[in-house]
Amino acid sequence: MAVQGIVWVIWLTGMALIALAFVWIVVQAGKPADDGTRDRTVRRGHALQKWFFGLLLAAFVVGSWATLRHFPIPPQGTASESAQTVDVVGRMWSWELSTSTLEAGSEVEFRVTSADVNHGFAIYSPDGHIQTQAQAMPEYTNRVVHTFSEPGTYTIQCLEYCGIGHEPMKTTFEVVAAAGG
Ligand code: CUA
Repeated sequence: MAVQGIVWVIWLTGMALIALAFVWIVVQAGKPADDGTRDRTVRRGHALQKWFFGLLLAAFVVGSWATLRHFPIPPQGTASESAQTVDVVGRMWSWELSTSTLEAGSEVEFRVTSADVNHGFAIYSPDGHIQTQAQAMPEYTNRVVHTFSEPGTYTIQCLEYCGIGHEPMKTTFEVVAAAGG
């Protein structure tokens, strides 16, 4: 399942739990309570709060680790450690790539710049999901790394409005299966 699918399921489950909690509160609110029941309810509420806080904290830590483990931006100004590198120049209104064929399974570093105004460099998989993106800025090179897992035809689309030719400012490149892999 794609990461988006997993996040979607987690989100739906969370919303369902919150909805159930509301239903429970509404049902409980209709019942008359004596002092003992009220104390028990308050204690149970505090215990639930602690559990909920712990759960949120755990979700935050796990979520941060899972999404930032492969941080897509290498330290600027250091030598590339990627197996493949591509120089990318955006201009009104086209993309220029130093290569149009890449291998799947090993890291690619894109060095993205612009010859005129700001452009948005975004890579879409063959099935239309965004893979990674960086800003293409004049007189500056942004480095972004990505490892392609699937061979196919990938599309680069400009994501920053840059004039009349912004919409068709796209190109494609091929990702092929790793040699011997
Ligand atoms: Cu280049 Cu929009």
